[in-house]
Amino acid sequence: MRSNQDRTAEGRSPSRPFDVQKIRGDFPILKQRVHGKPLVYLDNAASAQKPQVVIDTLSRFYSTSYANIHRGIHWLSERATEAYESARVRIQRFLGAAEASEILFVRGATEAINLVAHSYGRTHVQAGDEILISTMEHHSNIVPWQILCEATGAVLRVIPISEEGELLLNEYEQLLTPKTKVVAIVHVSNVLGTINPIRRIVELAHRHHVPVLVDGAQAVPHLAVDVQALDCDFYAFSGHKLFGPTGVGVLYGKAALLEAMPPYQGGGHMIQSVTFEKTTYNNVPDRFEAGTPNIAGVVALGAAIDYLSDIGLEAITAYEGELLSYAMDRISKIAGVRLIGTAKDKAGVISFVVDGVHPHDLGTILDNDGIAIRAGHHCAQPLMSRFGVPATARASLAFYNTQEDIDALAAGIHKSIEFFR
Ligand code: ALA
Repeated sequence: MRSNQDRTAEGRSPSRPFDVQKIRGDFPILKQRVHGKPLVYLDNAASAQKPQVVIDTLSRFYSTSYANIHRGIHWLSERATEAYESARVRIQRFLGAAEASEILFVRGATEAINLVAHSYGRTHVQAGDEILISTMEHHSNIVPWQILCEATGAVLRVIPISEEGELLLNEYEQLLTPKTKVVAIVHVSNVLGTINPIRRIVELAHRHHVPVLVDGAQAVPHLAVDVQALDCDFYAFSGHKLFGPTGVGVLYGKAALLEAMPPYQGGGHMIQSVTFEKTTYNNVPDRFEAGTPNIAGVVALGAAIDYLSDIGLEAITAYEGELLSYAMDRISKIAGVRLIGTAKDKAGVISFVVDGVHPHDLGTILDNDGIAIRAGHHCAQPLMSRFGVPATARASLAFYNTQEDIDALAAGIHKSIEFFR
């Protein structure tokens, strides 16, 4: 992956020393008390909190610069268009994409994957072909491919994983055959935290001329990602997990693939000309952005990316790595706790079950102490089956979490075990 130093060389401001208390001060919601206790927010994999700069950008954009984009000839519309397109360029740099037109704005990672399954899938996949995914996929990287399989007669194949929650790469190699038409794989598991070896996965798929879509929703908040270094063909993520607004996300696609793909949705802006007899389509990226997009959301996502880039993804990865080790150590030492997801290469997601305590009960007891985690199947029911559990409790980290947050979580787990003893 490209280092943050490279970005600095391209003109970004240099990374400052990592000061978690100062960073916490940037997030107004973290000052809240919940049920009379200080908020301990450990549900970042579900959605991350927003720094003041993102909130201010949204508000300022609506107060001073808002109009519809691409259509108007007036000053405000031009100003809004500039802000929107400048976010595209910032995201291009953030992902290391070759061209800004390879960045498509969508509603989130889910829509990005549906777009590829529909547009690429329906033109390249036929009966008897195979789509390869893994056991650790979120439903958003399972169901769109199942819909494609239902429509085309293609078959879904699944790469198995180990007890630790690591992909079995040998099995993956065996599953890659001339029938494989797409590999769709998660970068960081939302349940296990496993960081998958995407570069290697892509390399193996490309030997068979198979394109790879990467679901990066849980990766971009934790790791510096460079789509050219990974050589993936598509990369999807959501803005709301990246400290930006809800309702906005990104699909990166290699230019040659996107240019050959038909539209996913029809409507305004995605056309060159329309008659009742025939419509011709716009170029990429416009062809894939039908209708009025989430303009302010895109602009504020640009602000979130600037904010993160200023802190530096490498500093974030290093800080979160230490916090994760601390958390894994503390939680694994609690008698009756079973960790689910112990891969060597892992981001800040800690799933676990506690003997005699249902994850939902644990979540409720923690909530009473102001601690927010997620309990359930995490939109990954096949993965729950793989580990033989209906649900897990999940604490997921961001760079504003602290050891005190982990201590509060550990105390809450002890409390719940006492309660149900
Ligand atoms: N995909 C999100 C999660 O894992 C919602 O919680």
